[in-house]
Amino acid sequence: MTFTFKVNGKSTSVDVPADMPLLWVLRDVLDLKGTKYGCGIGQCGACTVHVKGTPTRSCRTPVQRVQGSEITTIEGLSADGTHPVQRAWEAVDVPQCGYCQAGQIMSAAALLARNANPSDADIDTAMNGNLCRCGTYLRIREAIHKAAAMPATDANAASRTGKSDKN
Ligand code: FES
Ligand code: FES
Repeated sequence: MTFTFKVNGKSTSVDVPADMPLLWVLRDVLDLKGTKYGCGIGQCGACTVHVKGTPTRSCRTPVQRVQGSEITTIEGLSADGTHPVQRAWEAVDVPQCGYCQAGQIMSAAALLARNANPSDADIDTAMNGNLCRCGTYLRIREAIHKAAAMPATDANAASRTGKSDKN
């Protein structure tokens, strides 16, 4: 079947089975490899993308569910890596192995779109579903506070809109 949606602002059509997970479509059909496969059962957050601004586990989202939707992946969070979350991540040097970090960044960006100045408790609640085997949680929290204190550029402002419910 053919499904049409926007990925990182670009209209995209794919001809795949209706139950194919969005993660497979992104990585294997559209060659967007920034979104990672971790557990495949909705438990780790490595595969998090935004669907209509909402952080979504793409491993548990059949492609038919995103027909007509706007999807943002880590590749589309900003044109040049200057989203406040990306700048803060770099400044704090958050990643260790890096495997979980695309999902962490997408969840953090959605949190800040909803709550411009989150408390530690807000951050812990919002990031609770994103696991990091390297234990970078304290640096993630520090970087989110740093991002919250940064002015968003015009380009980034658009990508900071959205909701924060998890899927
Ligand atoms: S790979 Fe999707 S939640 Fe783990
Ligand atoms: S940085 Fe290694 S799993 Fe998070």
